Amino acid sequence: MLKFVAKDGSEFILREPKIGDAESCLDYINELVREGAPIIINKVSTLKEEKKWLRRQIEDIKKKLNVTLVAEKNGEIVSICQLWRRAYRMSHVADFGVGVKKKYRGIGIAEAISREVFKIAKEKGIEIVRSWVFEDNGPSMTLHRKLGFVQDAILEDEIKDGRNYKDAFLMSLYLKK
Ligand SMILES: CC(C)(COP(=O)(O)OP(=O)(O)OC[C@H]1O[C@@H](n2cnc3c(N)ncnc32)[C@H](O)[C@@H]1OP(=O)(O)O)[C@@H](O)C(=O)NCCC(=O)NCCS
Repeated sequence: MLKFVAKDGSEFILREPKIGDAESCLDYINELVREGAPIIINKVSTLKEEKKWLRRQIEDIKKKLNVTLVAEKNGEIVSICQLWRRAYRMSHVADFGVGVKKKYRGIGIAEAISREVFKIAKEKGIEIVRSWVFEDNGPSMTLHRKLGFVQDAILEDEIKDGRNYKDAFLMSLYLKK
């Protein structure tokens, strides 16, 4: 558990999730979905689904298949940052996701939580982090570049929203270098 002081002076705790976080994680993800955030998930979840998802994440953390940290303020989950590790000959590679609730953006939370997740990932032998950024997600692109990601490819029509397609940038962070 780590204390983090954001740019506006407010304090957050960075820690692994626990099963008691289900309701707050549900508020977090549903808020992003309702906002229309440029993330893969575009359907609100139920508490039952969120509990199931959270249990799975916690099991996977124990099995070293997943690195997850949440940023919490007075019991409210304001950010989740995850790495999902691949298997076998790709077990040195992990896929990345991060988000921050709207009212807490712009004060350094995504950068801080991501850097902590990468530190843990390195200790667990993860060497390459991959991430898909929607073509129109400027804040996320800038964040990725600041974190040291490089663009490996443009994936045409990777995202489909109804009848509309978007490209995605495949970004990579080489932790060994
Ligand atoms: C992208 C996102 C995670 C950034 O979170 P955040 O906590 O606001 O980001 P931080 O405050 O830690 O910013 C770190 C760096 O990212 C970049 N950045 C963040 N927001 C930015 C913005 N609105 N415009 C331009 N750059 C931005 C900057 O380089 C910033 O560093 P700086 O403040 O020194 O300039 C947040 O906007 C979000 O949750 N968006 C919706 C979900 C999403 O897009 N997730 C990523 C999917 S790939």
